[in-house]
Amino acid sequence: MINNKQTINNALQLYGSPIYVFDKRAFIENYRAFFSAMKTNYEKYELSYSYKTNYAPYICKLVKELGGYAEVVSDMEYYIAKKVGYEDDHIIYNGPIKGKLGNEMLLNGGMLNVDNLDELTRIVDLAKQNSKINIKIGLRLNVDIGQSFVSRFGIDVTSGDFEKALGLIQTADNLDVQGIHIHVGQSRTVMAWTNRIKEALKIIDKYFDGKKLKYIDLGSGMFGEMDDELAIQFGKDLPKYLDYAQAIGMVINEHYKDYTYDNKPILFTEPGTTLINHYIDFIATVSSIKHIRGKDFVVLDCSKHNLGEISYLKKLPINVIHNNKNQEQIVDGEFVGYTCLEHDKMYIGYNGTLGTGDNIIFGNVGGYSNVDKPPFILPNCAMISMEGESLELIKEKESFDYILDTYVL
Ligand SMILES: Cc1ncc(COP(=O)(O)O)c(C=O)c1O
Repeated sequence: MINNKQTINNALQLYGSPIYVFDKRAFIENYRAFFSAMKTNYEKYELSYSYKTNYAPYICKLVKELGGYAEVVSDMEYYIAKKVGYEDDHIIYNGPIKGKLGNEMLLNGGMLNVDNLDELTRIVDLAKQNSKINIKIGLRLNVDIGQSFVSRFGIDVTSGDFEKALGLIQTADNLDVQGIHIHVGQSRTVMAWTNRIKEALKIIDKYFDGKKLKYIDLGSGMFGEMDDELAIQFGKDLPKYLDYAQAIGMVINEHYKDYTYDNKPILFTEPGTTLINHYIDFIATVSSIKHIRGKDFVVLDCSKHNLGEISYLKKLPINVIHNNKNQEQIVDGEFVGYTCLEHDKMYIGYNGTLGTGDNIIFGNVGGYSNVDKPPFILPNCAMISMEGESLELIKEKESFDYILDTYVL
């Protein structure tokens, strides 16, 4: 987490408070460590970055430069992938509702994973209307990998829906299956990954035996790097990239041991939070300190909406930079935001000193933060990339007019 007072002051002077700070060097290092763990355990591995997690184009472009594919779940995200320079054959289009650009992408040979039978019916029609073009699709499977809930995504493999899907595909001569996709949220154990690959291979053996598939896509859902303060809240001895990679590799390598490289499927995963969470910090400033009936409230110039998914589940790791000479003792303090919501609490149980003008740095805010910030009460702040001492603006602060532009005055 960023803790260099000079860099923090520079960032705030140049771009104002609050602000997101992307740590470019550390992200690249982490990307390479992740990719290498996967690649050394399955030689035909490819990484497809989950845009929804954080589609800041600067980051998407960096992923492209590092060799990653793009995983998108809407026309907007597909548009971003094209804007940063992706060709269709390096984009994976997922999601329960795809837009018109999904059709365009399919006709251009992109990888699109079908979520349900209605979507498939529309694609069968598209294939029939374009009978001279060979269209290849992936199927998202709904399987039980031991999670504690029934997922709503994908085509159920237990109800006959999967067989129906295969029957529908056969009604169009120019439509074929080229991949299998599984993603189940909230399942980050190594066992969940072993189960994913086993389930995928079971389906492949049962329905595609002898047929060469281009890819198996296992989605994402791994624990990424994080500060100890946060890791401890998820439990002891969290799995590392290598633990996941070895578990998947053991199963997939055994299954394809007699295949040549060319005949093996590409293995994709789609890391999002896994890749980005640890590499964006958020700097906020203490605006006021209130003591009300024995409770200490520290009001920050931001809101809970700035901080992303993890802040809703756990207590984010923080750094405090003391700028004010007059420090007050805070006991069991709550960091609260600029909204008028009582539940706009960003940190509970702070014990230490603070003064107005001090900075609070929240770590691990890379996922579902800037992309999930509503214009509630105030627009969003700027984002910069930090590379050593050098700072670069990668998202401007949103203006009031930017918010108003889509309303009719
Ligand atoms: C289809 C799909 N792929 C990838 C991801 C990203 O997973 P993670 O953030 O756990 O790396 C998600 C997140 O929900 C997803 O739905």
